[in-house]
Amino acid sequence: KATPEVILFKKEHASRLLPSVSTDDNKASRGRSLILGGSHDYPGAGILAARGALRAGSGYVMLAQKDLVVSSLENPDFLVKDLRGSSLSDLNFDAVLIGPGFGVNDYTAELILELKTKNFPNVVLDADALTTCVDFKLFPLPASWIVTPHTGELARCLKVSVHEVTKDRLAAIKKARQLFQCVVLLKGHGTLITQGQEIFRIASGNAALAKSGTGDVLAGMITAFRAQGLKPLEAALLGAYVHGATANLWVQSHKDALSMIASDVIDSIPRILWRLRQ
Ligand code: APR
Ligand code: MG
Repeated sequence: KATPEVILFKKEHASRLLPSVSTDDNKASRGRSLILGGSHDYPGAGILAARGALRAGSGYVMLAQKDLVVSSLENPDFLVKDLRGSSLSDLNFDAVLIGPGFGVNDYTAELILELKTKNFPNVVLDADALTTCVDFKLFPLPASWIVTPHTGELARCLKVSVHEVTKDRLAAIKKARQLFQCVVLLKGHGTLITQGQEIFRIASGNAALAKSGTGDVLAGMITAFRAQGLKPLEAALLGAYVHGATANLWVQSHKDALSMIASDVIDSIPRILWRLRQ
């Protein structure tokens, strides 16, 4: 139900946020994204996030893992890096995503703490990074960071039941903001985003997105927009809008909401960006 404190975020708003393209662009100026995602158990999550980041315009994407499980030969569009024996400070990047399939463990906690201590401003935390923050008591987070929990992840962070989150999503995102103190994106039907004042509700999206891996693509896209210089709230809004719009386009053109998969989200991004530029 729409209340005055909720602003519906629509196509015309998204259009205004699109990063511009210039003849002087090069891969570094278009934003370098570091994706800390995927692991032995969940190798695909990092790949989906990296591909989402590339399609959202990031000029240079590196997927880094502690025990590298992805192959560069199979993934020629982005760089891969084994983090054994090197640290974050050896790498150059404008924005970093940590979490999708990365594992809930000491190492993930260590990296989050390092980013926090160094006051690195452009960070997106998703999935395992959120659970790690709960286990290692890493909340609150810097104000310019973005967290992207689904319902279950947020329930875990707030230490409440899933029902408690679903029955009043507005109340839940307000509580989340108090806990995280950064930009919060609550996924699901009618994705909500807040930075503390207004709460935005993303107008695009549908249940075709209810497929594993689509959340990883979203996290990569938001990271790419951060890397290209969008402000945290803007990057979250644009990422969620474009992500949702791929599902609307899918249902429109295929007359079906069951068959869409995460790769289809990635492949539909160009069409949505084109539409936003019209
Ligand atoms: N309506 C609109 N959007 C939806 C709907 C829906 N009914 N269902 C899902 N979505 C969107 C969400 O808004 C979000 O953007 O799809 C995306 C799903 O993201 P996640 O829930 O993060 O899913 P993902 O990480 O890709 O895959 C799920 O994560 O927590 C683990 O155990 C879980 O292995 C599973 C994996
Ligand atoms: Mg997820």
